[in-house]
Amino acid sequence: MTESSTVEPGAASLLAWYDRHRRDLPWRARAGEIADPYRVWLSEIMLQQTTVQAVIPYFLRFLERWPTVEALAAAPRDDIMAAWAGLGYYARARRLHDCARLIADEHGGRFPETEAGLRALPGIGAYTSGAIAAIAFNRPAAAVDGNVERVMARVYAIDEPMPQGKKAIRSRTDNMVPTDRPGDFAQALMDLGATLCTPRKPACGLCPWRDTCLGRRAGIAETLPRTAPKKERPHKHGFTFWLVRPDGAVLLRTRPDDGLLGGMLEVPSTPWRDVAWTLDEAMAHAPLSGSWRLLPDVVRHGFTHFTIDLKVAVLVGETTSGAGAWHYPDDFDALALPTMTRKVVRHVLTGR
Ligand code: ADE
Repeated sequence: MTESSTVEPGAASLLAWYDRHRRDLPWRARAGEIADPYRVWLSEIMLQQTTVQAVIPYFLRFLERWPTVEALAAAPRDDIMAAWAGLGYYARARRLHDCARLIADEHGGRFPETEAGLRALPGIGAYTSGAIAAIAFNRPAAAVDGNVERVMARVYAIDEPMPQGKKAIRSRTDNMVPTDRPGDFAQALMDLGATLCTPRKPACGLCPWRDTCLGRRAGIAETLPRTAPKKERPHKHGFTFWLVRPDGAVLLRTRPDDGLLGGMLEVPSTPWRDVAWTLDEAMAHAPLSGSWRLLPDVVRHGFTHFTIDLKVAVLVGETTSGAGAWHYPDDFDALALPTMTRKVVRHVLTGR
């Protein structure tokens, strides 16, 4: 006997829901269309740590400018970093480019089709290899990110706190992947997590698993997955130096490749530390000694793991010395300026 309240949640009801409610996303093949591995890969790299809404305009711009993996591979690194500016997690952009070159130069322009083959490429980990194998190549692979963890923890009432609960979630998901339509299954789980099974106030009444979800039946769905309480983000301080040349160019410098905002441009600054800098202390790190005016407000920026306040000192008068590269403010839009740097620029130029 199969009574709906005792049946386990399964792929079939989720896929039927997906056929009616799938989101129309620019990297997604329409029903019946064949997925383009380049688009799937590009979107999955962009979607690591970033929301669908933030990714869409970047994805469309990249695709228009570099319609194939060969085109992306042939682009200068600086152009890619500049086009990525504002998306954050810039190591992703460098690995994206490395991966494109590898595919173009050593794989004849074709992505490997297996999870293991994909996993061996730069920038592709467990989640992304599963997602690409399933979505681009219809391989029976699971793609478990934070959204899918939330859905699965609820559906199976897994109340082991994270990260210990990840193993149980992973194995539940692996067991549910259908051999028929695994790519749609992966995307259906993503859509369910994004639209109905949301972190707060999930819309359980609309869910295809409303009768079988063990979390809902136990009345604990919204409390799952259990997590350790979030630690407060530490707060840091820095001091930036604004220098202008007589022709209006501003001194910028490139951050080292291997750290935060690696390879991106910044207004020259002190190191970042836990205590605020005095003007005197900061001066030891200034690009040149001279007369500096301190702007009254600070620029605040939030990274994932800390927040930072940047004081801004403006050189009184103009100069032609200072190590770095000089750029005209009119050209800033086309440069690899991360959001933090854009905030400093805006603050100096507009006072906001
Ligand atoms: N998040 C990660 N990958 C995604 C995809 N392909 N579609 C929607 N959201 C996603």
